[in-house]
Parts: sequence; C-alpha cells; structure tokens
Amino acid sequence: MGDKKGDSGGGKSGKPDKLWGGRFSEATDEFIERFTASVGFDARLYKQDIAGSIAHATMLAEAGVLTGEEARQIVDGLEAIRADIEQGRFEWSVELEDVHMNVEAALTARIGEVGKKLHTGRSRNDQVATDLRLYVRDEIDAIRGLLWNLQTALVDLAEREADTIMPGFTHLQSAQPVTFGHHMLAWYEMLERDDARLADCRKRVNVSPLGAAALAGTSFPIDRARTAELLGFNAPAGNSLDAVSDRDFAIELAAAGSILMTHLSRFSEELVLWMSAQFGFVDLPDRFCTGSSIMPQKKNPDVPELVRGKAGRVQGHLQSLLSLMKSQPLAYNKDNQEDKEPVFDLIDTLKDCLFAYGEMIPAIECRREVMREAAGRDCATATDLADYLVRKGLAFRDAHAVTGKAVAVALERGRELHELTLEELNGFSGRIEADIYDVLTVEGSVAARDHFGGTAPAQVRAAVKLARKALAARKPTREPAA
Ligand code: ARG
Repeated sequence: MGDKKGDSGGGKSGKPDKLWGGRFSEATDEFIERFTASVGFDARLYKQDIAGSIAHATMLAEAGVLTGEEARQIVDGLEAIRADIEQGRFEWSVELEDVHMNVEAALTARIGEVGKKLHTGRSRNDQVATDLRLYVRDEIDAIRGLLWNLQTALVDLAEREADTIMPGFTHLQSAQPVTFGHHMLAWYEMLERDDARLADCRKRVNVSPLGAAALAGTSFPIDRARTAELLGFNAPAGNSLDAVSDRDFAIELAAAGSILMTHLSRFSEELVLWMSAQFGFVDLPDRFCTGSSIMPQKKNPDVPELVRGKAGRVQGHLQSLLSLMKSQPLAYNKDNQEDKEPVFDLIDTLKDCLFAYGEMIPAIECRREVMREAAGRDCATATDLADYLVRKGLAFRDAHAVTGKAVAVALERGRELHELTLEELNGFSGRIEADIYDVLTVEGSVAARDHFGGTAPAQVRAAVKLARKALAARKPTREPAA
C-alpha cells in the first residue's frame, strides 16, 4: 500500500501534511485549527489510544491483513511512543488535531511507511469511542477503590462510636436520640448504593466499539471479538452506528457520580453544622481546616464546604453531557468531541472528593458529652413515654395525646421529661410507674430500638459486621491512585 511514487496523500503546494488532507486544496485556517483541535485535552487518552492500536494491529496480523512482521514493527513503535510520552519526550502538535493523529503521525515518523498501515479497517470514530470507554472503565475501578476506602473508614468510625449518643433530627429539630455509629452507617448505606450503581454502569461501559470503523463497519476480514478480548471488553458492540455515536455510558457515569456527590454534599452539610460553635458535636484536626485572613479566631471546615460545592460541578457535567447528546442524529458527530472535558473533570472531582473524605473521616473527633447532653434536651424521649403507655395498655393515639400534655408541662416548667416527679407524671396517667425513668433516659431510648436497621448499639455492632463482610467481598485488588 502506498509505496509507489505518486501515492503520497499530502505535502503539495505548501499546505501542511494533514493525515486527511488528500481532497483539500488549502490549509486549515489557523483559528479553526485551534478551534477544532482536541489534543489539548484528549492527550490524556494516550495510554488507551495506544492499547487500542496495539490490539487492532495484533488482530489485523492474525486476520492476515498485516504481516506478522508489520504488526511487530507497529507494536514496538507504539510502545516506544508510549515510553516517550511518559518520559516527557513527546511533542504534541495542534496541527495534528487530536491524540489519535498525533500518535499515528509519530508512529510513521518512527517506523516509516509501515506505520501508515495501522489505520486499515478502522476510523477515529471507533477509535475515540474505544479510548473513552477504556478510560472510563479504568477510572470507575479507581473511583470504586476510593469509595471502598471511605466506606471502610465509616465502618471503623461507626464501630468506635457505637455507644455514642447524639440527637437524631427530622426537620433539623431534635427528634429522637440515635447513636453516632448508626448515623455513620447511614452514610455507609448510601455509598453502598453508589458503588452498586458504578458497578452496574461499568457493565455497559465495557463493550467494544472497535471495528465499527467510521459508522458502517469495514470491508476487511476483521475479528471484533478478538480485539474486544485483547482489551478486556466483555463483548463487541452489536451495532456499528450505535457504537460510534452514543455516549450514554458517560452519561450514566455522570448520573451515578452526581448521586454520589449529592450524598457527599449532604454529609458535608452535617459536618459543617456539627463543627459550628452552636452544635459543637465534632471537631476536625487543623490539617483539614483553614483560617480566616481577617478573623484570627476562625477555623473553617473547608473540606466539607468544598465537597458540598463540587457536587454542583459534577451535576453540571451531567447536564452538559445530556445536552450534548440530545437530538444528535446518527452516527458520529463532531459534537461528541465535547464529551471529554466534562468526563475528565467529573472523574477528577469524584476522586479528589473521595480521597479527601477517606482521609478526613478517621480523623473526626467526637465531642461525646456535648452530643449526649444535646440528645437529652427538648423532650427527645417523648416517643418512649408514649410507647411505654402503649405497653401499659393505652392505644397509641391516646398515648400520644397524654404524652403531648406532659411535654407541654415540662416545657412550661423548664424541665425535661425525666426531671418530672412520679407524682407529676401520674397526673397525666395513672399507668405510669417508677420503671418509667429507665425508659426516659437517652441510653434507654436507643437501647430499646433493638431490631434490624435500628439505632441500638447492639444493632450498630451487628450492622458493622455485615458491612465488613460486604466490603471484604469486593476488596479492591490494587491501591487506588488519588
Ligand atoms: N477528536 C475527535 C473526538 O474527540 C476524534 C474523532 C474525530 N472523528 C472525526 N470524524 N472527525 O471526537
């Protein structure tokens, strides 16, 4: 192919050597060149691009489209280019538009004419879809690794604070006492569902577009199952038009990531509240906080605040990707080049937030006395009094009404329910006996909620055990990079 004189594609009449320049008679406008280029951001796909090319060349040789020797030269050349890039010896060029053409041009410059054969039977359209899927797949694994670390930290903290009592809130009003460990396990559960969403998304990401070529497939006798296998994909994509065009896999990651960030933003909001002087429930070591340039006394919970803010950023990327894909006709459109920056940024953001949280959670210092004191305020054990009356034979609605009266009197006298005398309590119901005081303590209240999913310390310890089992079953095989 192309060795004979006169077969060269470009380089005539001063117009630069574009890999696609054959049918063009003037050079690309300088601004348009920059405007249409993606190498400024897609260079980050070099590893996946080279892996995809190596798989493609290997398969072409097995199919007899390339000779074994040609494939060997191509693979060696690509590996050398990868080393150059990793050692900072590679010069990226905007004129070459994107990562794909930069690598291909470098290959031909390095190994000569045979490099021009690499693009046989493929297109940048299946190439870029392949690169992005490989990238997203590997990053999902990294994100899940960081999530695993964070969940482990939460379970450790839950175990450490299984007996710590804090106020539980609804409407941000003190509702019923709960254990801090139970509260931490609520976050663990949310993250558990996030992990399941990521794992599920990964299945649909891990499908190979390679061989779809530009949109219709190729006339060469390619083996799509083989390239899929070489790249660790589950299967080749079933339709070439769909394979090169849809980016729903990226949208799914953005959606799963947005929900995850929503969870972290809720968690962040609580930490910010709990660290305020008004709550004073927890403290974070100085290394996770910053000060104010004007107010010398300030110690600000920057990490949770920033994570709360970054949730908006990830949700914005989800919206970008949905809008990008909306109304696109089949098959590939240049619009899709706009998928990369949101995908890269949302992945970076997720990893940074998860890493920061994974480091911060074990460092949380609980102010147990403050939380316990707050848990006993505002008649927080009123439900326990009502439940007690039910056990003594009253219907719940009546018990609720009787307890409401007791609460009104306690508030009026500036006392808590357990600070009312038995005589005073009997004024509301003759069924109340001395054993009521066990029920009205915060310890009694949490210990009584002793069923699966409840807040009792014994249940927290049981839930910790289950969580540890679930985590052990999907322990990441390699250390996730931050
Ligand atoms: N840089 C392009 C992208 O990110 C690669 C695919 C280009 N394909 C094309 N037919 N122009 O989508």
